[in-house]
Amino acid sequence: MDNFNYYAPTKYVFGRDTEAQAGQLTRWMGCRKILLVLGGGSARCSGLLDRVAAALQAEGVEYLLLEGIKPNPTDDRVYEGIDLGRREKIDGLLAVGGGSVIDTAKAIAAGIPYDGDFWDFWAGKAVVEKALPVGVVLTIPAAGSEGSGNSVITRLDGMHKISLRTDSALRPKFAILNPALTFTLPAAQTAAGIADMMAHIMERYFSPTQEVETTDRIAEGLLMAIIEEAPKVMADPENYQARANIMWAGTMAHNGVAGCGRREDWTSHGLEHELSALYGVTHGAGLAVVFPAWMTFMASHRPEKVAQLGRRVFGLTGKDDSAVALQTVDSLRAFFGKLGLPLTLSQLGIENPDIALLTAKFHEDKGTPFGPYFPLQPVDTAAVYRLML
Ligand code: NZQ
Ligand code: ZN
Repeated sequence: MDNFNYYAPTKYVFGRDTEAQAGQLTRWMGCRKILLVLGGGSARCSGLLDRVAAALQAEGVEYLLLEGIKPNPTDDRVYEGIDLGRREKIDGLLAVGGGSVIDTAKAIAAGIPYDGDFWDFWAGKAVVEKALPVGVVLTIPAAGSEGSGNSVITRLDGMHKISLRTDSALRPKFAILNPALTFTLPAAQTAAGIADMMAHIMERYFSPTQEVETTDRIAEGLLMAIIEEAPKVMADPENYQARANIMWAGTMAHNGVAGCGRREDWTSHGLEHELSALYGVTHGAGLAVVFPAWMTFMASHRPEKVAQLGRRVFGLTGKDDSAVALQTVDSLRAFFGKLGLPLTLSQLGIENPDIALLTAKFHEDKGTPFGPYFPLQPVDTAAVYRLML
């Protein structure tokens, strides 16, 4: 096990009707005038926006709206939010939505107190030292941004989708997690969220670091819980208990606890971010295609951890690591298939993928070679993309 620091200072407020505490929690994080960041309309339609607004008003918190943040959020809305927030002298942000809304709020929070271009942080030219506080009302368990220090934004100039990782600077101060808010999710978004949270666990699990049994078992336990609960939420979207288990698993998947003491991989996310940037696909649905392809490649290059996952999570019993790794891929694909997730690029709606461009952008954004578990050269990356056909 490697040395590590684990500091995850988000206050999680979990359960029914917890959005009623949005005002008190916003005051608790020290804010009186905030930017309320929203997606394309689900929070307005469900009445959630009205409830949150009432909770803010009851505590005397003023708010301005930044609405219409789209999935795979782009830098133009961040610049707009920074201008608005500076003009109106806001002292914090509240994101009501999923990863796209939260990540936009985080980027605005980092950009407002910074003298230069906020993109400097994403381009690796500066480090976030100061940011406005961000609170969250989560409406989709998926990206895990409610408990992570990360923010993923796409630069429209060149369509570069980049994930900025911070230890704690961009972790939300609080996250309201009410599983009942997820009842209205379309089945495809529920399923994509499940694939994404499993990917967050597996990116950490496929590590070159040895002897991390405790962290391995946390990861395996989370995966087993998700595999158990996922069919229940697909069959009965208003099953509160199953939604609750999935929601908490989604947060635990990405708040760092499943990565303690080891190097993490994140190759599949890098490969998927290029698909989202170029073809606008839903992130979690993209991962359902990418991860099994990457694992198939690993079956013939570095099978041992893939096989361990298959034996411990899917109950496989074979002795040969490469063969078990391939069976693990079959088990994962069968599970994703049952959730109605796409398994190939064409099922994802990408008929003629430009593999040369995807490969070039992946290495431009991530470096060469890339992949702590198994370093990919461009020829390998292209091979993994071809396994998605
Ligand atoms: O925009 P609205 O109308 O709210 O609709 C959204 C959106 O269309 C809808 N939705 C959300 N909650 C709903 C709902 N519809 C009905 N009822 C509800 N309760 O779901 C759609 C997807 O929303 P989005 O925020 O894009 O989903 P998600 O949470 O999956 O976020 C995806 C983004 O997060 C990034 C992804 O790359 C992608 O850009 N990620 C961020 C991470 C982080 N910051 O730590 C890590 C992840 O790996 C990921 O890369
Ligand atoms: Zn993800």
